[in-house]
Amino acid sequence: MLVTKQPVLQRFWYPILKAADVGAEPKPFTLLRKNIVVWRTPDGSLACLQDRCCHRTAKLSLGFVEDGNIVCGYHGWTFDAAGTCVRIPQLEDDQPISARARVTSYRTAEKYGYVWVALAEPLNDIPDFPEASQEGFRQVDQFYETWNIGALRLMENSFDNAHVAYVHRGTFGNVQSPKVQAREIIQKQWGFESTNIAAVKVRGDTAQKAVATTGGETVRHSTSVWHMPFIRRTQIRYPHGLIHVLITCATPINDTVSMILQWVYRNDTEQDVSSAEVIAFDRAVTLEDKAIIESCEPDVPLAVLEGEEQHMPSDRPGLVMRRMLGNLLREHGENEQRLAG
Ligand code: FES
Ligand SMILES: [Fe+2]
Repeated sequence: MLVTKQPVLQRFWYPILKAADVGAEPKPFTLLRKNIVVWRTPDGSLACLQDRCCHRTAKLSLGFVEDGNIVCGYHGWTFDAAGTCVRIPQLEDDQPISARARVTSYRTAEKYGYVWVALAEPLNDIPDFPEASQEGFRQVDQFYETWNIGALRLMENSFDNAHVAYVHRGTFGNVQSPKVQAREIIQKQWGFESTNIAAVKVRGDTAQKAVATTGGETVRHSTSVWHMPFIRRTQIRYPHGLIHVLITCATPINDTVSMILQWVYRNDTEQDVSSAEVIAFDRAVTLEDKAIIESCEPDVPLAVLEGEEQHMPSDRPGLVMRRMLGNLLREHGENEQRLAG
């Protein structure tokens, strides 16, 4: 599936920037190959426009913000948060501005410390992460970086038990025990839920600190939710009571590059385990995933074509994702778009 060629994927909310990084300076982002620009108006609310001036197509993000409006850096045409051109400096005051001088605006929201954008009427809400408002949990922001992957590859990977023994053999995987239990999947309207119990290794200081244990092994009870199309939440519970909730978003920049945003909620304190220690372990784990997923072809086939990819029972979550996304496309009158050849 080529994500930029499936218009229905524009009808979801995607996190694009850290909220703290967006102020009165215009910030560019590319979402599903659309160039957009985000800034904050004086009352603190967010504005998002297509990053293309309607005069000579210059990037508005090269301009500046004045009184809450964005001023194009080329000739100064000025647009408000709704995309209406409110000033053409070269015109006399009594000369009207054409109603056609406007730029597309997009819906924005601020949640969990991130700026979210939907390019078209959203089909559902921004996912609910219960721990965000639960007492006793803190949020640790972990990663904001581009990976050269198709977004769906990371979603499949996040529910793929079989990769742990091999990809994570340097951190918590055990290559001596490659057999995994089949995951049960409870399908929801906008994704699915799946639980899992896994014995894992705790190797070295970084892992022991992050998991707050001194043993060499532990058991993870996890509940994972796939939020269609490219967000997962995995709540990991350890025997000694620690809860570590991973939120991983693969926001598609284009068909082959995704912005990876990951943060966690934990029911411990900075004094128990520092943020740096929490990040260090997940850093090691995600770099293992990154190296291998970047080697996979980004154009994930939804239709399970004979011969293109082979499957095994533990691949089921990914196959359910493919089926559900295929159904979504069909419901919206779209055919799956693939790379030619
Ligand atoms: S290109 Fe933007 S004002 Fe001319
Ligand atoms: Fe992994």
